[in-house]
Amino acid sequence: MIPQPFIYDLLNRVDIVDAIDRHVPLKKAGANFVACCPFHSEKTPSFTVSQTKQFYHCFGCGAHGNAISFLIEYSGLSFVEAVHDLAAYVGMQVPEQQTDTFFKQTVPDDLSQYPVNGLGSNDPEISPQDLLSVLQAATRFYREQLKISEKAIAYLKKRGLSGKIAARFAIGYAPAGWQNLAAIFTDYTSERTRKILLQAGLVIISDEARQYDRFRDRIMFPILNQKGQIIGFGGRVLEQEEPKYLNSPETILFEKGRELYNFFSARRAIREANCVIVVEGYMDVIALSQHGIDYVVAALGTATTSFHIQKLLRQTENIIFCFDGDKAGRKAAWRALENSLALLSDGKYLSFLFLPEGTDPDSYVNQYGKESFEQQLKQAMPLSEFLFKELCVGTNLQTSEGRAKLVSDAKPLLQQVAAPALSVMLVRRLGELSGISQSELEELLQIKRVPRAHKIKNSVRKQPITPYRRLTRMLLYSPNYIAKLDKYLLVQCSENSEEVAALKALVDFLDTHPQLIASKSAHSILTYLQNSPYRALLEDIESETLEWGSAIDLEEEFLEVLEKLQQAQRNKRMTELHSKSLDKLTDEEKRELQRLAMK
Ligand code: UTP
Ligand code: MN
Repeated sequence: MIPQPFIYDLLNRVDIVDAIDRHVPLKKAGANFVACCPFHSEKTPSFTVSQTKQFYHCFGCGAHGNAISFLIEYSGLSFVEAVHDLAAYVGMQVPEQQTDTFFKQTVPDDLSQYPVNGLGSNDPEISPQDLLSVLQAATRFYREQLKISEKAIAYLKKRGLSGKIAARFAIGYAPAGWQNLAAIFTDYTSERTRKILLQAGLVIISDEARQYDRFRDRIMFPILNQKGQIIGFGGRVLEQEEPKYLNSPETILFEKGRELYNFFSARRAIREANCVIVVEGYMDVIALSQHGIDYVVAALGTATTSFHIQKLLRQTENIIFCFDGDKAGRKAAWRALENSLALLSDGKYLSFLFLPEGTDPDSYVNQYGKESFEQQLKQAMPLSEFLFKELCVGTNLQTSEGRAKLVSDAKPLLQQVAAPALSVMLVRRLGELSGISQSELEELLQIKRVPRAHKIKNSVRKQPITPYRRLTRMLLYSPNYIAKLDKYLLVQCSENSEEVAALKALVDFLDTHPQLIASKSAHSILTYLQNSPYRALLEDIESETLEWGSAIDLEEEFLEVLEKLQQAQRNKRMTELHSKSLDKLTDEEKRELQRLAMK
């Protein structure tokens, strides 16, 4: 693990503009630098880098972060690799410390355990960090249990796995029994621990309020996120039982449509091979990896989402979907195709490989070996071919009706393709199949060759900006204003919005880390709040400061915001007092009401 102070030092030394400009040439624009966003395709630049605040933000897709996260996202480096890369760039030596690849933490304990909702509350809410630590502890436990379970070891051996590969994937075994986790968490019965285990998806609470382990007598496959942290599990039965795989439920850490099994560990291999294979199962990933094919990921018991595809297209231009040859496999492939059409650009190459029915990548590679599998990969069907093949199934192209049906089925799909050359080719192919001329088809399909509109995050706000948001923005821009802030204004605030909660969390953090403010470091305060549940909102708010040049009068903004907050508080109190009937008010309250009304 790399000591945290070093990381902050490094971020102070690096200039994010240089660090990004090496990969994505930036242009000066006002107070900031801009480029076309490397994380989504666009024609006009909305990717903005702040030199004063050392962060980037894309107004198109919402990508946001510092120099380290840029390298992780852009170059697909791991956290440690990104730190080494930057350190080498500015000539700093990374202090050596033992690393444990599976248990990497990006935020040190003292900083990550900041109170999330601490103002006056003695039941601090559960943070993502709490969930991460129990998942990590559970992984250790499951791995130890695997070492002592003959039957689990025998099962893995039967499946052809080596001990080395089991260790590489941190495979474990959840023993039979309902209360095994009780033994590893000393304060298992405390209300807080119960909540954490429940929210992490490790235990289930039954109707009679009894708490028991979710995973029992199963081979356990830990699922890592993009940072290498364990966020959930897949658990497979050893015998033939149902369900075959039990997966962690979705939690605040684990969203199935966003995560891919093995993505974290495969990134280097994906870049080196300039290709990624998407398979269906955990065991497919693991078996291929054991045979030396490491550029493989799997969706986690869900369809391949456009988010998955976007994530993969950032690492490589070639995606091969390798699904079972059966009906379910073709259906899964079709879903992947539908979700990728809008994301294609010329130069990206998606293809589909269907193995003979009854085989999956795991059984195939075990039976025929690596070379034969790679040979199969070369035969994969290009997206365009798969598209028309599927569309033609059950359609009689000998009849006009059949050809008309083909065109109408193809229409909504082709309309999504923004890649100009590919689009032309698909229309041409449709012309060949339907016997309709290119120009007639373009008319029929209403394909307009205009840049596709992106989901722009509502940057023009319809609602007036709340004073809480304004204050948050100020504190992110200039944390030293915390010293001038009357915290009573917030303690009093009972409004229950995410903005207020995020503001309170930020204020708490700044309050408990005065040394960070004193050090006047150049990088954004959000560097320390990577695990905050309000991170996305805070990033969004921080991006609003990008338009602030030197012209902004912070002092004036601050006073105005305070005034607004006080006003809000007065209004609230007045409403409270007005809601009582006049004869129930005490003399003191009547005087207060008068005072308030005067202001
Ligand atoms: P498969 O049944 O194809 O998985 O399901 P597999 O990896 O080939 O399984 P075995 O061990 O070789 O028999 C593909 C994926 O679908 C999800 C899992 O993510 C699995 O890896 N799945 C499958 C479930 O979530 N639940 C199930 O009951 C079955
Ligand atoms: Mn299988």
